[in-house]
Amino acid sequence: MDEPRTYYRLKMSSENSNIPEKSPSESHAEVIVRMFPTDANPAGNVFGGEILKHIDMVAGIVAQRHSQSNAVTVCMDSVNFLKPVFVGNVLTLSARINYVHNSSMEIEVKVEAEDIITRIRTVTGTAFVTFVALDKNGKPTHVAKLSLKTDDDRIKFEEGKIRMEKRIKNRQK
Ligand SMILES: CC(C)(COP(=O)(O)OP(=O)(O)OC[C@H]1O[C@@H](n2cnc3c(N)ncnc32)[C@H](O)[C@@H]1OP(=O)(O)O)[C@@H](O)C(=O)NCCC(=O)NCCS
Repeated sequence: MDEPRTYYRLKMSSENSNIPEKSPSESHAEVIVRMFPTDANPAGNVFGGEILKHIDMVAGIVAQRHSQSNAVTVCMDSVNFLKPVFVGNVLTLSARINYVHNSSMEIEVKVEAEDIITRIRTVTGTAFVTFVALDKNGKPTHVAKLSLKTDDDRIKFEEGKIRMEKRIKNRQK
């Protein structure tokens, strides 16, 4: 059986402690990208790793917009590839921040693929990405609190909090 782990934390940087609260809509990001043959296997199915790269990138834009600092990925979870993506599809990745703690932020990403001939758009993937804001010395630093404006913001915040508590419980160091 695993032994209980004890974590010791250095005092967190307060470099960003004066940043005012921000709503999720202030950091929302959307990226549009076309899929090419080099992104896919010989049958034309786009690699999951190619989509993950774009998920990480759009989530990173949200994290850096919210924290106004450098931010790095510490966890990707609940990644679901729901439907295939093919060469030629146009992907729209939209990302929003759901939850913040001290330096950590949960970003939710939705991936939609469009066949631009038929104009049919399908949700092909979803994921949660956790980022940590870093100060100029690479130490975790406080991020702005979330100003929850809508019922959806409040629901997503509470759900994000539960998921973050599970991540921390399962965390390997
Ligand atoms: C980010 C990093 C500096 C944090 O260092 P650390 O020693 O883990 O710092 P702490 O234990 O103080 O944790 C800092 C925050 O990260 C959160 N965190 C760290 N790992 C996490 C994980 N796997 N899942 C969720 N949260 C995590 C902690 O809960 C804490 O959040 P809080 O400040 O909101 O309470 C370090 O983990 C790191 O450099 N990781 C590599 C990041 C990277 O390079 N990513 C790109 C892909 S390789």
